[in-house]
Amino acid sequence: MSDSQRVLAGPTTEMPEGHQSTVDLNGVSVLVVNFEGTYYALRNNCTHKDYPLLGGDVSMGRITCEKHGAKFELATGKARTLPAVKPVKLYRTEIEDGAVYVSEL
Ligand code: FES
Repeated sequence: MSDSQRVLAGPTTEMPEGHQSTVDLNGVSVLVVNFEGTYYALRNNCTHKDYPLLGGDVSMGRITCEKHGAKFELATGKARTLPAVKPVKLYRTEIEDGAVYVSEL
């Protein structure tokens, strides 16, 4: 994967614990979450219906879809609570020179 397919999410100083934001990667909205000091990136779409995950409650390493309450594991993308059953796509995060970058896994 070349650097040209890597997008800047922002400086870590602006993405503290609990931070959520989205970046556009090849036309796809990707959600970036700082949970307990680790940056996770996953497709910003619930796999139950087409609904953004941005802004969902995050606890115990899982983000909750605000629409019907499905929970997805940040580290694996796996659906852990119905009504979602399919995993959400994951992306790679890298920290370089104090900034967070997102790319395809
Ligand atoms: S759209 Fe996310 S749980 Fe239904």
